[in-house]
Amino acid sequence: MAHQSEELIIEALDIHKSFGTLQILNGISLQVRRGEVVVLIGASGSGKTTFIRCINLLEDIQAGRIRVNGRAMGYRERSDGSLVRDSERNIARQRRDIGMVFQRFN
Ligand SMILES: Nc1ncnc2c1ncn2[C@@H]1O[C@H](COP(=O)(O)OP(=O)(O)O)[C@@H](O)[C@H]1O
Ligand SMILES: [Mg+2]
Repeated sequence: MAHQSEELIIEALDIHKSFGTLQILNGISLQVRRGEVVVLIGASGSGKTTFIRCINLLEDIQAGRIRVNGRAMGYRERSDGSLVRDSERNIARQRRDIGMVFQRFN
């Protein structure tokens, strides 16, 4: 791609997401660089929407790291490595930089 750079715009590392006992995302990682266009393809119900919602902090994750524009999204790391969700105010500020069109957007 002509204008692609090495700059990471979205970085998701080893994302784990469950709804109750149902594990949806089991260690998913993704890197998107500036100028890249990336498409997620998979069977219905495989977790595509859930993954995107996690990037946007519309879902809690059980493990993993998310960075957008080089900034950690919504979580801070405790000294023992566990994750603490950021304040809603900070999260709302970060979400403002991310667009999402829902499948049933009405
Ligand atoms: N809020 C929720 N509570 C419980 N299960 C959910 C919830 N949202 C999605 N799921 C389940 O997570 C799985 C992945 O769904 P989803 O991310 O919508 O898949 P896709 O977008 O790939 O079709 C499905 O089994 C779905 O039923
Ligand atoms: Mg979907």
